Amino acid sequence: MEDKLKFLEERRQVVFQGGGDKRIEDQHGKGKLTARERLEQFLDPDSFVEVGTFVQTGLEDASTNEIPLPGEGVVTGYGTVEGKLVYIFAQDFTVAGGSLGELHAAKICRVMDLAAKNGAPFIGLQDSGGARIQEGVMSLDGYGNIFYRNTLNSGVIPQISVIMGPCAGGAVYSPALTDFVFMVDNSSYMFITGPQVIKAVTGEEVTPEKLGGALTHNETSGVAHFRAASEQECLEKLKKLLSFLPPNNLNDAPVLPPAEPTLSAEELLQLVPPDPNKPYDVVDIITRVVDGSDFFQVHEHYAKNAVVGFARIEGRTVGIIANQPKVLSGCLDINSSDKIARFVRFCDCFNIPLITFVDVPGYLPGVNQEDGGIIRHGAKILYAYSEATVPQISIILRKAYGGAYIAMNGRCLGADVALAWPTAEVAVMGPEGATNIIYRKEIEKSEDPQAERTRRVDEYRFRYANPYITAARGWLDDVIDPRNTRRHLVRSLESLKSKFEERPRKKHGNIPL
Ligand code: HXC
Repeated sequence: MEDKLKFLEERRQVVFQGGGDKRIEDQHGKGKLTARERLEQFLDPDSFVEVGTFVQTGLEDASTNEIPLPGEGVVTGYGTVEGKLVYIFAQDFTVAGGSLGELHAAKICRVMDLAAKNGAPFIGLQDSGGARIQEGVMSLDGYGNIFYRNTLNSGVIPQISVIMGPCAGGAVYSPALTDFVFMVDNSSYMFITGPQVIKAVTGEEVTPEKLGGALTHNETSGVAHFRAASEQECLEKLKKLLSFLPPNNLNDAPVLPPAEPTLSAEELLQLVPPDPNKPYDVVDIITRVVDGSDFFQVHEHYAKNAVVGFARIEGRTVGIIANQPKVLSGCLDINSSDKIARFVRFCDCFNIPLITFVDVPGYLPGVNQEDGGIIRHGAKILYAYSEATVPQISIILRKAYGGAYIAMNGRCLGADVALAWPTAEVAVMGPEGATNIIYRKEIEKSEDPQAERTRRVDEYRFRYANPYITAARGWLDDVIDPRNTRRHLVRSLESLKSKFEERPRKKHGNIPL
């Protein structure tokens, strides 16, 4: 027996060594941790249980401990994060560049299946040269098996991708199918075709960072949701995200002890400028109503004219969506529509109530927007809110004009509780635009058209641009003192705790894509 235990221990050590000291050194030299170091840093101490430790391609003679590709270039298993179970893989760049062959993929699929069966989040720490060239179509089939599971598990368990090295070619599509993508500055890249191929095909010269680095995918393409300066910071952010999420679509998110906001509610009276054309930061409103003033933004660097993210009210996770008046006046455009719709759908999948703060002058006008398909992109928000059956509360802070009033979860799209601040203006369009159309003749005929226009705008604003016409129709449940916003949210969420709403039976809907 002793011999056998010694042999086992030696074999395990070979696997644990991955690509060996030189390659581990190279990995460290690039400012990157190894797969096992990442797992150790991320998971609770001693919680990792490896699955498939000795999986090995082409093993014909098991009597030696000379293993060509230790661990097949990926470490797979499960462990806990702050006590909660997660299934995880970490690609090992020190073994054949973390490239994905048949058994590498099989190991990943195994933990995906276990995650779905056991209802726990699935996390991939990606660091790979892509399809293992030597294995040809077997690698491609491996990717296909992962994509298939990503899709089947979508909406069942949270799936999160963390890019910590190269991620090229079709390999990017597993992260793209998951719910959230994290990237690290200067060491993670995602692209379908790399800089050399682009140069050969189109003649364009671009650095890997500019083409597919963390900044590009967080700010420009919207492929990634979170950006970090280092691997350590990235894993900390991932822990924070997990703290808000339920393990699956049948269980609730963890409930923390309630905490009052640390920022003063009294200041809510001054934060929204009375002049509807003046900007402000909607995050200042959100942080004054949520537990501990703690708001965790998703897609923080993308489509900044909208803000989405997680927070807690009385210890329970909520998803927050808001227009951001300090960027593009908070208009809805193509990118913000995608951002909002995807976030709403995530929350709805995982039973997270939605709170929407509205201050929107409309959809962004422009040839670019029309050419880019604002019609079909904007429709995604309508679809996502209409489809959602989780508790939904909307609060109009200031402007709610035109189609955007509807899109930001107006009562007609299914908001369970619709509230407004006294500063709210609900109308088909802003007073200036409306006055120019309906009082055009009176303004033209007037001796002083400018003064007449100003008078008509003021009159219109006084008579129509307020919350009371909407409230009179019953489309607002109440007009509230801004300082009482949190209290209204707490009570509304409490009353909606056992909300149950069904949709017509169907295979699935056809969201505009
Ligand atoms: C096999 C690979 C590999 C791959 C890297 N290696 N990529 N082995 N298949 N795809 C090996 C290298 O041969 C090398 O082995 C070791 O990993 C480290 O690679 P280096 O090139 O030395 O590292 P570095 O200089 O850091 O460059 C990393 C890299 C580069 C940028 C990822 O290796 C690279 O460009 N690889 C190919 C990327 C690629 O085109 N992949 C296919 C994408 S298409 P040794 O033994 O010398 O240390 C794809 C299709 C998926 O993935 C389709 C899904 C539907």
